[in-house]
Amino acid sequence: MALIFDYADTLTSRSVSLTFVKGLILSGGAGTRLRPITHTSAKQLVPIANKPILFYGIEGLVEAGITDIGIVVGETGDEVRQAVGDGSRWGAEITYLSQDKPLGLAHCVLIAQDFLGVDDFVMYLGDNMLEQDLTELVDRFIVDRAASSLDCRVLLKKVANPSSFGVAVVNADGVVTDLVEKPENPPSDLALVGVYFFSSVIHDAVASIKPSPRGELEITDAIAWLSGQGLMVDHDMLDGWWIDTGKKDPLLECNRLVLGTIETQTDVSTTVDESSLIAGAVQIGARCTITNSVITGPVVIGENVVIDNCQIGPYVSLGDNCVLSDAVLDDSVLLKNCLINGGGRVTSSLLGRSSSVSGTSSSGTSSLMLGDDSIVELH
Ligand code: TTP
Repeated sequence: MALIFDYADTLTSRSVSLTFVKGLILSGGAGTRLRPITHTSAKQLVPIANKPILFYGIEGLVEAGITDIGIVVGETGDEVRQAVGDGSRWGAEITYLSQDKPLGLAHCVLIAQDFLGVDDFVMYLGDNMLEQDLTELVDRFIVDRAASSLDCRVLLKKVANPSSFGVAVVNADGVVTDLVEKPENPPSDLALVGVYFFSSVIHDAVASIKPSPRGELEITDAIAWLSGQGLMVDHDMLDGWWIDTGKKDPLLECNRLVLGTIETQTDVSTTVDESSLIAGAVQIGARCTITNSVITGPVVIGENVVIDNCQIGPYVSLGDNCVLSDAVLDDSVLLKNCLINGGGRVTSSLLGRSSSVSGTSSSGTSSLMLGDDSIVELH
């Protein structure tokens, strides 16, 4: 960080400053890395511990005092609109911004210009999850913006494999001097986290840059343009974990991390018979029936779920209306209406809505990634 701030000042200035900080959540995109799920639904609506990933982002912004939120949507816009609504359940006002094609993160800023106007904003990638609250980060940005000529702040995290990320080079004053997308020879181990803070000069940047070789307007190019104009781009460091859930394994890792924080709770309308054992942190929704099964937390179970003669957990999220019999399941996310009947051990799996798995694999263990409505018989 380049600037020193006084936290007490932050708190007294919040009510005034926050009125002009907006949120921009990116929830379009192609989602190629999470196919086949993304053939039929939005990756930002895949649930982590039975709550859509996108909702964590909205809640994070609202907790930080940002309630005027634009959501960029693409092909899956109708589904996102239906799931999120007008934002009133969070005390937020949501404006949907349609992007015809996923032409890049900076293109999202371009199409959001009328919504954003002259206001500062926080841009949040809708498939990213952070452990740290945004409040302190937003407060710091507001204070430092008021006290200096800061125009952009990126959020960074040290990573072991910087080649897989956008990477920043930072000088001794905390100023970002270079940004490189997925470098072969990373100039630092500081990865760009999917949260950015901008003043309205970013609109000049996104209007000035050209598409990259992959045909997208890159936000890293727009930020580099700001630096090139002599405008101040600095950074803040993220505490705690950060996961881009755009692929199956990170998504399951995120599910494990969030499940690691849950507390035991069973809805009164649910029945668990005497031959079943529930151990560890397990949340069970309404009207479930559990018979002759062992559930080892952390596990989250939705509503109307039937589990018979199964071993479930640890690290499992089961959506509403799933029916499992003779199943052995761990480290997995099942969306609603899934069916597992036998199948041997199913692990490290992501099952789309209304998928069905039965039979037994010859190895005895299967790791599956199924799109909505898949039917799989294991041999
Ligand atoms: P990415 O995960 O970088 O891109 P993608 O969604 O196209 O996925 P993939 O690489 O697997 O094909 O996008 C980060 C977030 O930004 C994600 O929530 C999707 C969103 N996004 C848009 O809304 N519009 C866009 O043009 C792009 C590229 C991404």
